[in-house]
Amino acid sequence: MSILPEILERRSVGGFKPSPVSAAKLERVLEAGRLAPSAKNRQEWRFVVVQKKALREKLQEAAFGEEKVGQAPVVIALCTTNIEYRMPNGQLSYPVDLGIAAGFMALQAVREGLGSCLMGTFDEAAVKEMLSVPYSMKVVLLLLVGHPAELPEAHPRKPLRSIVAYDHW
Ligand SMILES: Cc1cc2nc3c(=O)[nH]c(=O)nc-3n(C[C@H](O)[C@H](O)[C@H](O)COP(=O)(O)O)c2cc1C
Repeated sequence: MSILPEILERRSVGGFKPSPVSAAKLERVLEAGRLAPSAKNRQEWRFVVVQKKALREKLQEAAFGEEKVGQAPVVIALCTTNIEYRMPNGQLSYPVDLGIAAGFMALQAVREGLGSCLMGTFDEAAVKEMLSVPYSMKVVLLLLVGHPAELPEAHPRKPLRSIVAYDHW
């Protein structure tokens, strides 16, 4: 069993059709995030699901007018509930944890026949304000989910030999 087909099929979608995402599909996408690993299994996250058109339009404004934000029938704001926890290696765990959760959700979206796009381009203070995110927490990423208007070309990746080393850097 391989999930490489889903990995290969996933693209960052540039635009969405207005057709809604069924509640069952959305729940399975969220479930993929819930089941994602996190440092020490702390699960310091909260996924705020935005579907109301008026709120999505405000999110689009906070994303500097990016149209696909307003188009996507579902926008999931991936938030952390702890901005301080560091792994023993000194790295903050929340951006890593939320990145993994976002990846799991994006792959489940493919399995559901949906498209997605991760977005880090937004005014975090504005998004916090409109989604009532507490001051001490952070909105790390927005995940747009919906039916793609068209399937984008695959973006090229570096070959394995240029990014993998064995035993030494
Ligand atoms: C952490 C992260 C942040 C991203 N932020 C944005 C963004 O703000 N706007 C956007 O259009 N795409 C964004 N992307 C999508 C990337 O540009 C995209 O993944 C990359 O170009 C590779 O294309 P692909 O996802 O279609 O393979 C982001 C992706 C990641 C992983």
